[in-house]
Amino acid sequence: MIDLLITQAKQVLTLRASEGNKVTEELGIIEDGAIAIKGEEIVAVGKTDEVRDKVEIDSEKTQIIEASGKVVMPGFIDCHTHLVYAGSREYEFEMRLKGVSYEEIAAKGGGIKATVRATREASKEELSNLAKSRLERMLLWGTTTVEGKSGYGLSLDSEIKLLETIASLNKNQPVELVPTFLGGHEVPDEFQNNRKAYIRLLTEKMIPVVAEKELAEFCDVFCEQGVFTVEESEEILKAGENAGLKAKIHADELTPSGGAELAGRMHAVSADHLIYPSESGLQLMRDNGTVAVLLPGTSMTLRKPYAPARKMIEMGLTVAIATDHNPGTCTLEAMPIVIGLACLKLEMTPAEAIRAATINAACALDRQDKIGSLEPQKQADITILNIPHYRYLPYHFGVNYVDTVIKKGKVVISRS
Ligand code: NIG
Ligand code: FE
Repeated sequence: MIDLLITQAKQVLTLRASEGNKVTEELGIIEDGAIAIKGEEIVAVGKTDEVRDKVEIDSEKTQIIEASGKVVMPGFIDCHTHLVYAGSREYEFEMRLKGVSYEEIAAKGGGIKATVRATREASKEELSNLAKSRLERMLLWGTTTVEGKSGYGLSLDSEIKLLETIASLNKNQPVELVPTFLGGHEVPDEFQNNRKAYIRLLTEKMIPVVAEKELAEFCDVFCEQGVFTVEESEEILKAGENAGLKAKIHADELTPSGGAELAGRMHAVSADHLIYPSESGLQLMRDNGTVAVLLPGTSMTLRKPYAPARKMIEMGLTVAIATDHNPGTCTLEAMPIVIGLACLKLEMTPAEAIRAATINAACALDRQDKIGSLEPQKQADITILNIPHYRYLPYHFGVNYVDTVIKKGKVVISRS
């Protein structure tokens, strides 16, 4: 007996592994589609008649959602966010509008350090409430899984405070969180004259403790001129790998810094930002299966160039997109808006952008076996949009067309 049945969808975007490269095949579209769910899992996907014939429906117990005229797709996966922090930086926003650069603001003690000061002062409860309201808004826009980085603590205790906040949020609200340790986000003020000592603290103390407490799945580092060099980043990521944390890198965001090469060489799960990647870096990433995570909202807010997405796609890289939600460079929370920007600014097709926000984003979190597509045995994380065609999503971007959100088989948002 199944628990939930979605029927008569105008389009079900299954995102199942494609056999060709036609647009419909890329998204695995089923018209007049249905999905049957038992417990937390999808058990059948197909045409409405076929699915109805195949599964056992209990007229009293099976919940039925009639989705005619709507698009049914995997819940969005926001695979790069700095979710947990206190304070805000709207004054920096205005300074940048007046022509002061992000780097200049950071050099004067603003930027990441400003948020570190506010975050260190905040209690776990305050941080949790702030992050929870961000997650509520993300869910309203159809996001069912969010990667969350630490990185605004930069001391053992405060980084653990951020990661424990993520762990407790994973238990008390519906959006699933994937935790990443980003102690290598910046060198904190108290180590300004002794950066080697901070790197030692990261590699010899913070990373082993975080791994031992199972507070993170990934280790990330901000590899950038003026932050961490390629050599330092490699040392930090290797310590992460030795402790069992998979590698991610903030690479080539503000300047060409060799981050893409490092990501490829290290077989990192993803390299993120990539505004200025080198040709050889992209080749290494492709050959070693590193996903390119692009964050067009950040280019927009910083008024910087956009990542060369077309080139990456043509080279055969797996391209994902995400919000990069953080208080400094991008406050976006809505994945449908990122999909719009991916089309308008990264020159991706609507189908490529939807792939990038679902199955490819699952690859960026090494969770492609569990989420990101609608197939039997996958987790039932589903977003239903009140739009007539998938192309309508980036075309009419900025409007929230979410009708229903299902997380692990449970309806968590229902607006109709
Ligand atoms: O992804 N690049 C590093 N981290 C963030 C910005 C952090 C901040 O300014 O607070 C980013 O853009
Ligand atoms: Fe980031």
